[in-house]
Amino acid sequence: MPDENCGGGLGPASAGHTLAKNNNAAVIDRRYTQIVQFEPQQFIARTVAAIPRSGIRDFFDIVQGMKDVISLGVGEPDFATPWHIREAAIYALERGRTGYTSNLGLLSLREAIATSVERHFKIGYDPVREILIGVGVSETMDLAFRAIINPGDEVIYHEPCYVSYSPGIALAGGVPVAVSCRPENAFSVTAAAIEKAITAKSKALVLNFPTNPTGGTMGRVELQKIAAVVQRRNLLVITDEIYSELTFEGEHTSIAALPGMRERTIFLHGFSKAYAMTGFRIGYACGPADIIDAMMRIHQYSMLCASIISQEAALEAIQHGQPDTLAMREHYRARRNFIVSAFNEMGLPCHLPRGSFYAFPCIQSTGLDSKDFARKLLEAEKVACVPGTAFGPTGEGYLRCCFATALDRIEIALERMARFVKKVRS
Ligand SMILES: Cc1ncc(COP(=O)(O)O)c(C=O)c1O
Repeated sequence: MPDENCGGGLGPASAGHTLAKNNNAAVIDRRYTQIVQFEPQQFIARTVAAIPRSGIRDFFDIVQGMKDVISLGVGEPDFATPWHIREAAIYALERGRTGYTSNLGLLSLREAIATSVERHFKIGYDPVREILIGVGVSETMDLAFRAIINPGDEVIYHEPCYVSYSPGIALAGGVPVAVSCRPENAFSVTAAAIEKAITAKSKALVLNFPTNPTGGTMGRVELQKIAAVVQRRNLLVITDEIYSELTFEGEHTSIAALPGMRERTIFLHGFSKAYAMTGFRIGYACGPADIIDAMMRIHQYSMLCASIISQEAALEAIQHGQPDTLAMREHYRARRNFIVSAFNEMGLPCHLPRGSFYAFPCIQSTGLDSKDFARKLLEAEKVACVPGTAFGPTGEGYLRCCFATALDRIEIALERMARFVKKVRS
């Protein structure tokens, strides 16, 4: 309540007069000295307040505090970055390569990316106008959403999926629309399911094959059907192909390589998984010049450019790192074969992931839900896996187990899991 004795002024500008008028310097109008209680939550934007914390992070906060845990959790290669790539980073420092680069990234790296994408994906991009280097696929994905989404635009994606898509779309003001991938289709997405989800507000479709967390892949014929829907309904595609090098069976096809798709696709790729370079934080986007330019305008005012040291390392990786990628893939393949047959043997049905480094066994037969299974397994046997629900509600009844861990550790983890499952069932 205002102090009755002070009368007068309605704003801070009149505060001095108030005191003078009352001829009583000791009486201070409380309206002008009152401090409003600061409540941080009130300052959080509504879009951010509505975003849940990542289910993976929450779970691994618990793991951090425990000893002797075998983690099949975080989706990160267990290999150190190949030495010649680390050396390229060291050499960049030695040469004093420590400044900014062009907003789009080093031209030499963009040229090498263009050559590599042409060779491996059969898609040609102009390194001067159609490629942007960013801070991981994470940043390029965020830029893509922010560059294309107007408030209320719907963006379709397939689920279970990587944790960032739905929040990324929502943070850009869009409406995430999930289409579920079924185990009976080996976790691929059908053109019919996508078509069913399309409305007048649909703007874009996000694809991620091979998929995190299911290891699902898509063949050319299925992709052609999706391309036909996308072209008929005039959608843009954002394709996250970060696991493409980790394809174990058949050839990886990018939707961007299909007729009529290059011009309506943002192709995202990066160095984290194929070259075990997660900490270098380098990813890239290829696409129509106008869209890359729009993404670049956000990037230049937010990130400015990716680290030059990391870009130099990425140049070495993309030019000379293929044998390393192939060698790591063979390790992942052996681990995949082991882990999948071990799950099936213990009565947890697990489809064979044709790509990525994730197995996605079904745990429904244990009677536990995903979160309970993961929590109790961790408590009882010190094995960390991610509940399938971290990747969307359609992940209920599943567990994500990353096999980017040494085979002898996986063997121990699977022995412990078999013991746990037996106990739960008895
Ligand atoms: C499907 C998918 N896309 C993007 C990312 C993020 O990649 P980056 O390290 O390039 O930001 C991940 C990381 O796990 C992922 O699984």
